[in-house]
Amino acid sequence: MSDFAIAVLISGRGSNFIAIQQRIEEGSLPARIACVISSRADAPGLAYATERGIPTLVMPGKEQPEEKITTFLLEAFRKYDVALVVLAGFLRKIPRAVVEEWPDRIINIHPALLPSFGGKGMYGRRVHEAVLAYGCKVSGATVHLVSADYDTGPPVLQRCVPVYEDDTPETLAGRVLQVEHALLPEAVALFASGQVVVSGRTVRTGATKLTQS
Ligand code: GAR
Repeated sequence: MSDFAIAVLISGRGSNFIAIQQRIEEGSLPARIACVISSRADAPGLAYATERGIPTLVMPGKEQPEEKITTFLLEAFRKYDVALVVLAGFLRKIPRAVVEEWPDRIINIHPALLPSFGGKGMYGRRVHEAVLAYGCKVSGATVHLVSADYDTGPPVLQRCVPVYEDDTPETLAGRVLQVEHALLPEAVALFASGQVVVSGRTVRTGATKLTQS
């Protein structure tokens, strides 16, 4: 089993977490989920983790002082010897102190092409509603480094999907989610193989340049 330990943070269904775990189990992603941390005790994704024997933790509530949340997260990352933190449908803000302690080692998946349709309150269905309301012809998914503000860190990977004229928030969400399930494990694999180099807002992943004919 790979030594590249990751912590996956969730808030709900956990389909992105499950996509990562499935890639690991089928042998196409050299990583190991050391723990799943949920912001909600009733997140459905926790049951899947428990079935797989993956340790689970529930974060202190958002009414708790930020220092308590910071200490909780940093202790968990240390305890499980984590190399990368993956926010997979995690809807709480990561405290600034945690981001500063873990520069360039926390990633998030967002269901749109940032910097469009991101920021506080832009999550889940709301994102797809906003994309349709704007009349966009493409949407997609972004994996980005986490900074102290919502959805503002530099992109690591982005992938487009078409928006169709008869799309509803649900049909668009489904198309984007399929891409998310490929993109997030790909990003984890890039970190696991040491291919990610961050220089300012540019995140190099060794992606090959297409030559023009
Ligand atoms: C995913 O679409 C993810 O991109 C989104 O929530 C969903 C969680 O699904 N995250 C955000 O909107 C964060 N701003 P999941 O729990 O099944 O992985």
